[in-house]
Amino acid sequence: MIYIPKEHSSVLIVDDDPGICEFLRSALQNFGHQPQIVQSGEEAIFSLNRDYDLILLDLDLPVLSGFEVLKFIRSNQKYKHIPVIVITGDSDRSSRIDAIRFGANDFINKPIDLIELQVRIKSQLNLKQAVDEIKFHKENLEILVEQRTTGMLNLLREVQNQQEKVHFSYLDTIKTLALSAEFYDKTTAAHIRRMSMYSELLARKLGLPDKDIQIITHASALHDIGKIATPHSILTKTGTLTEDEWKIMQKHTIAGYEMLNHSLSDYLQVGSQIALTHHEKWDGSGYPHKLQGSEIPIWGRICAIADVFDALTSVRPYKRAFSNEEALQLIEQQSGKHFDPQLVKVLLSVQKELSQIQEKTLKFQKIDSL
Ligand SMILES: [Fe+2]
Ligand SMILES: [Fe+2]
Repeated sequence: MIYIPKEHSSVLIVDDDPGICEFLRSALQNFGHQPQIVQSGEEAIFSLNRDYDLILLDLDLPVLSGFEVLKFIRSNQKYKHIPVIVITGDSDRSSRIDAIRFGANDFINKPIDLIELQVRIKSQLNLKQAVDEIKFHKENLEILVEQRTTGMLNLLREVQNQQEKVHFSYLDTIKTLALSAEFYDKTTAAHIRRMSMYSELLARKLGLPDKDIQIITHASALHDIGKIATPHSILTKTGTLTEDEWKIMQKHTIAGYEMLNHSLSDYLQVGSQIALTHHEKWDGSGYPHKLQGSEIPIWGRICAIADVFDALTSVRPYKRAFSNEEALQLIEQQSGKHFDPQLVKVLLSVQKELSQIQEKTLKFQKIDSL
């Protein structure tokens, strides 16, 4: 915005001498200003709410003196910026010093010289205009900064909302994918649920960052998603698989990886790594790539142990459910062979939490068996 100065400055004349008041009124009108006259200090204070550019103030006023008026103006936030020229016939030096102390900007002596009056008024009005212009730009700048800040905050909020929406749609995608795999594979919702909770527990006890814990909690549901690509006849075969069938079965790891790895989502990216590596073994005897030790991503190592623990403690068509103690004993025997030894230690240290998860997911078991 552009600053437009006033066409006519508004000047307050405060003097109890009607002759001086008239003289000043006529002079100011001739200079092109708009004068306003009051003849007492009280009236001066009452009229201050008008927007004056300059005050010409007599010090010798009855009742409320010019000093009091000056003091009031300078102590009031709203008026303190108005320049004041003191008109005095007083040649007393101490009055002038007091006037300066109280905040006078300049003096004019009586009798008033017209040229001197014009020069002093012009100089004070120029200063006032410069101050007003700075004030105007400062206020506009503040408004502009506030508008921009509000705009930025709204934008940020919008981005956060969008991110949240994307986040939840990825979680929806995971749930939908996991559900479709369940339908096909007859894997139960309870298995997926417990896998997810065991993985979360292990990741937390291992000290993984919160974000990673959140990711594995959801992404672990996708470990067997690749089974969608496995022929149903092989998945549901009750007898032992032939060598060729076993090779096809093993491909569910690669199929799951290929289904998910093109995604930009951290959840689906980790899901693809889990799908690919949850059958790898610590000693390198797993599949599909015979990875060894820490070559297997931590996601795959966690899901491997969670998956096997749940399989051991669940009823399957070919076996009874082992107790937690029996399952943990079998897993301990596989420390450094099938499983990451550090994770085996962690699993053995959280037996109470494992039982709590099993109790919590009992209701899912019931729903599954309906
Ligand atoms: Fe699997
Ligand atoms: Fe599984």
